[in-house]
Amino acid sequence: MSGQKISGVKGMNDILPPQIETWQRIEAVARSLFARYGFSEIRTPIVEHTELFVRSVGEVTDIVGKEMYTFTDKGDRSITMRPEGTAPAARAYIEHGIANTEPLTRWFYMGPMFRYERMKTGRYRSFTQLGAEAYGAMDPAQDVEVIALCAAFFKEIGVPDVVLKLNSLGDGSTRPAYLAKLKEFFAPVIGGASEDAKRAFEQNTMRLLDSKEEVLQDAISKAPAIIDFIDEGSKAHFATVCRLLEKIGVLYELDRRLVRGLDYYTRTTFEFVYQPKGDNALGTAGTVCGGGRYDRLVKELGGPEKPAVGFAMGMDRLVLLLESVKGVQRSAPTLFIGTFDGPERDEAIALVMALRNEGFNVDFDPRGGKLGKQKERASKVNAAWFAGYGATEAAERKLKIDNMRLPEGAPKETVEISLDGLRAWLNDAGKRSS
Ligand code: HAM
Repeated sequence: MSGQKISGVKGMNDILPPQIETWQRIEAVARSLFARYGFSEIRTPIVEHTELFVRSVGEVTDIVGKEMYTFTDKGDRSITMRPEGTAPAARAYIEHGIANTEPLTRWFYMGPMFRYERMKTGRYRSFTQLGAEAYGAMDPAQDVEVIALCAAFFKEIGVPDVVLKLNSLGDGSTRPAYLAKLKEFFAPVIGGASEDAKRAFEQNTMRLLDSKEEVLQDAISKAPAIIDFIDEGSKAHFATVCRLLEKIGVLYELDRRLVRGLDYYTRTTFEFVYQPKGDNALGTAGTVCGGGRYDRLVKELGGPEKPAVGFAMGMDRLVLLLESVKGVQRSAPTLFIGTFDGPERDEAIALVMALRNEGFNVDFDPRGGKLGKQKERASKVNAAWFAGYGATEAAERKLKIDNMRLPEGAPKETVEISLDGLRAWLNDAGKRSS
């Protein structure tokens, strides 16, 4: 029916001003920091062949089992809107033969991912990840570089109370022995669990450790930990990762239960979790970043034998966090110019446009109207200064500029600036008010 309102899809958010500025700030920090760490940006399509995620993330995972947006396209292909960025990046890495020309490859990406999840604070069906993947280095220095990059990033954007949790899953060689132990351990309790859990028990026992099912919680807390089963090479690798992190001053906590919800990991796994002392803006969605090493994935997807390590951060969660710490910050005009009806209005508008084109943040109200109303608008957009431009100002070639950001009760502050000196004054005022 025409005229009826259509709302957005559940769990998929619009990002509008002023919040967009927090996003842009995070993006700007990421671009600059990731470049300094030697990572280049990639952009891959939103959709991929479904099989890519089934084979990488794993068939018996929550993501592939129940959260994917999958459809058949007009050519009868099964297509999935990407639930994560590691598999698409690996697919592109293989497809373009990057390993042949660039033995060490470091990429990053930012973009929307899709998971049909139960929504709550910080958990959405369309969300944005900021991720990085490094291919070609087996050395623990590579694990440490990506972890250090995350730590530097949180520091630079100003998110406090983020704790690094660290574990190792081994290189895969000892996993069958571990899985056998785990199966033996869960066998007595699995009868009382859901069909999903029983399927995980049969096909992918480690996934049981992520289960939220009440009946399994006691067993999960006592289950054998994979780190006690890992091979000697992985043990030495992990020890070096820990030693190097200490050397560069990145604090971490060992977390023997950290197995991550995707199947491709080998050796180092990590998460950064928001753990403040008081209120928690993210509730239970406190994991702001997850990652680890995945030395087998590229080969398993039909590529060369190339080790890799990476991470992805949840940008929606970072934005919530930053806003809870710093509030919504919006950029504001340095000067707002009020106009009057009459021949000088054209001049005033021309002055605003000229100043903007020269790089100054100057605003006006294109609706014109009473000066008082225009001043209200200036205050609404948080302009630092306000000046009317009419016949007197045009004739005397100077502006009377009022300070709009005085504390309550403070006496009025007005400065007189000649039009010739306006640019120099704006330069200075812009620096002081930003
Ligand atoms: P992940 O742990 O599934 O890992 O997701 C990484 C981060 O994305 C999470 O820690 C969280 O901050 C954010 N995230 C995940 N799901 C949602 C959601 N529904 N709403 C909001 N934020 C969400 C991966 O995706 C791996 N690809 C990470 C990786 C890269 N491992 C190696 N390289």
